Amino acid sequence: LSAEKYNVKRKDFATVQSSDVNFFKTILGNERVLTDDNDVTPFNIDWIKNCRGQSKVVLKPKSTQEVSQILSYCNEKKLAVCPQGGNTGLVGGSVPVFDEVVLNLMLMNNIVSLDEISGALICEAGCVLENVDNYVRERNLIMPLDLGAKGTCQVGGNVSTNAGGLRLLRYGNLHGSILGVEAVKADGIIIDCLKTLKKDNTGYHLKHLFIGSEGTLGVVTKVAIHCPVLPKAVTVGFFGVENFENILQLYKSAKSSLGEILSAFEMADRDAISSTVKNLNLPNPISDYPFYVLVETHGSDEGHDGEKLNRFLSKEMESGLILDGTVTSEPGKMQTIWNLRENIAGAGLRHGYVFKYDVSLPQKHYYELVPKIKQRLGDKAIVVCGYGHIGDGNIHINVTVPEYTREVAGLLEPYVFEEVSALQGSISAEHGVGFRKPHYIHYSKDRSALQLMHQLKTLMDPNGILNPYKVLPEEC
Ligand code: FAD
Ligand code: MLT
Ligand code: ZN
Repeated sequence: LSAEKYNVKRKDFATVQSSDVNFFKTILGNERVLTDDNDVTPFNIDWIKNCRGQSKVVLKPKSTQEVSQILSYCNEKKLAVCPQGGNTGLVGGSVPVFDEVVLNLMLMNNIVSLDEISGALICEAGCVLENVDNYVRERNLIMPLDLGAKGTCQVGGNVSTNAGGLRLLRYGNLHGSILGVEAVKADGIIIDCLKTLKKDNTGYHLKHLFIGSEGTLGVVTKVAIHCPVLPKAVTVGFFGVENFENILQLYKSAKSSLGEILSAFEMADRDAISSTVKNLNLPNPISDYPFYVLVETHGSDEGHDGEKLNRFLSKEMESGLILDGTVTSEPGKMQTIWNLRENIAGAGLRHGYVFKYDVSLPQKHYYELVPKIKQRLGDKAIVVCGYGHIGDGNIHINVTVPEYTREVAGLLEPYVFEEVSALQGSISAEHGVGFRKPHYIHYSKDRSALQLMHQLKTLMDPNGILNPYKVLPEEC
């Protein structure tokens, strides 16, 4: 249980009574109020199995009105609520800690409208990212974000975590792509900021309060998002590289050689790839190298783009920055390469338990922590690997062990955060703070900023019912 593992005390919220369950049933009907232990358990456990809550009730609203009624009731009764999307979050924010009511958005999954000229899409928060992406692809557009969890995560979850992903380098982050948001505050009041305009400087940009606030300021119910045009030509290269310094040189060269068509520049070290190949029985299209780089282009001319990437490969094989590599535009082969990259997260779970760090660092320090952690843990870890979105300075470090122990936890935390802070990095690059990091947030956020966060929280959720124990530290 999260509460025992991380030594957290329950706050003074009410406990769900049968009268509360009856009230929820009057709003949602019997089917959309889950109370049976077997039904509720999966909603209490996070994807990476780091956290486990003790909720007794899961609610599945189908409309903004229903969300509003539920929150207004919970606020009045002082019942704590954990908003939940696809439950793919990696910082324990999506599952309750104690007996918070789980408010799962999965049934709010309608696409509301799409303006094919401007690319403005409006959808309900519970739409699965991949479903929306498929929908807009049929209309020559794409979603501006893509991540390994696309088959399960929801657009509302993406907004609430300000998810980054594999193509942020090209399409920017969600603070740029989100045109509008509809959200429900803790007291049930619906905030309608659901505009589809590119330009709208009418006062405070309130939508940004909901982007990345991880369910602590409101429940996102609808999202308006700008969809870029479907690229006519996609090419992927997968390269073996000798050392990390060469990856940085390669990145610099890719930006100048591929310019406007570069859509992803990802890296992974040998341990990340070899354990994914081994644990999930996936093919590696090139042989064994100390480091790997995945480069993708999105452009409008297949011949031209493929030629550009092939020329880049030849040039950098000659220079020695690339040891070996492959370039392809065949959908199946591109998928094989992406599968290897996207499955690193899941592959580590086969070892038992994963300690996961998602940090931003100045690019020149990007890989420094991995060898340091390896040395610090010695044979206490099965694998310590690094991979991520090098174009964004965002590395993921996974430490796998047979099972969670306080000893390993103590060797990693706060050590990792101290090191990141000393290098002027961020202790949470794209996954958020969730339940796992509030007490470390000060390594990346100034006291004055934390105080303003607390003031905003008090203003928007005075009873603190929305996702308690998450994001905000107890004291600052
Ligand atoms: P959940 O996990 O259900 O919730 C995440 C947080 O948002 C919680 O705090 C929850 O309370 C809150 N929340 C969810 N929905 C709402 C809502 N409608 N209103 C208010 N609050 C809400 N993340 C990246 O940034 N980049 C990646 O490349 C990436 N790759 C991933 C790959 C894999 C295989 C996995 C498992 C995860 C990955 N993630 C990545 C993390 C995760 O997928 C993202 O954080 C995602 O945006 C979470 O969406 P979700 O719907 O699953 O939200
Ligand atoms: C990724 O880039 O693969 C995701 O952020 C998930 C992870 O950290 O493993
Ligand atoms: Zn990532």
